[in-house]
Amino acid sequence: MSNIIEVENISKSFEGLKAVSNVSFYVEEGKITGMIGPNGAGKSTTFNMICGYYPPTSGLIKYKGNDITGKRAYEFADMGIARTFQIMKPLGNLSVLDNVASSAFFGRHKAKNMRQAREIAAEILEFTGLISKRNVLAREMGTPDQKRLEMARALATKPDMLFLDEVMAGLNPTETEGAIDLIRRINSGGVTIFLIEHIMRAVVSLCEKVIVLHHGEKIAEGTPNQVMNDSYVMEVYLGDGGAN
Ligand SMILES: Nc1ncnc2c1ncn2[C@@H]1O[C@H](COP(=O)(O)OP(=O)(O)OP(=O)(O)O)[C@@H](O)[C@H]1O
Ligand SMILES: [Mg+2]
Repeated sequence: MSNIIEVENISKSFEGLKAVSNVSFYVEEGKITGMIGPNGAGKSTTFNMICGYYPPTSGLIKYKGNDITGKRAYEFADMGIARTFQIMKPLGNLSVLDNVASSAFFGRHKAKNMRQAREIAAEILEFTGLISKRNVLAREMGTPDQKRLEMARALATKPDMLFLDEVMAGLNPTETEGAIDLIRRINSGGVTIFLIEHIMRAVVSLCEKVIVLHHGEKIAEGTPNQVMNDSYVMEVYLGDGGAN
């Protein structure tokens, strides 16, 4: 198995605050890898750097063996990378169908016109279980459906590598099971997944490997069971009340 993502000593400072410090890890192609850690640990900042939302202050990011450090967000869809945002960003006044259709113009699908984009979108809405909501305005949907819509929009670029930032936050247990099933189906279709998640049940059930951040530093890495039994990880979670 090769590594689709390699991160070497990345750091990010925001006006003196070191949000991420010298973090290194890799993501194996075809697998589901997780990132956990208490609030403010630097998880979303790490995602944002890898996905080109902003560059790292220092360090190197490789995708499929190529240096992508400093590439801009708009270049990522073409490379086969898609992401969701922790704070959802739907186009509120557009229907669910057109939210997904508008992503189908980017990335690998590159729809030629709106009709083709809507066909692609309808397929993705079937796959993600949103087809019955196709005509609902995005802003009128509740959190669980908006989370699903974020994933549907990301999938509309036909990624090889998908970054999910807390797509299960705010879901009840049944909805969480549904999200776990969807993520597994996306992965079965050949998409490598890297996810940030607080819901440990989901992490344990989905991830082969987990990376743990705390105060911007990587403090552990291993299988879900290995990291959950790590004494420092337990101390950090109990100390911060971070596990929820
Ligand atoms: N754009 C920004 N400007 C200034 N500080 C920021 C910015 N983004 C994040 N931070 C700070 O960097 C640190 C890490 O934040 P980050 O959002 O990466 O944490 P997180 O692990 O994703 O937390 P959560 O679990 O709450 O989502 C925090 O102290 C946060 O306040
Ligand atoms: Mg976050």
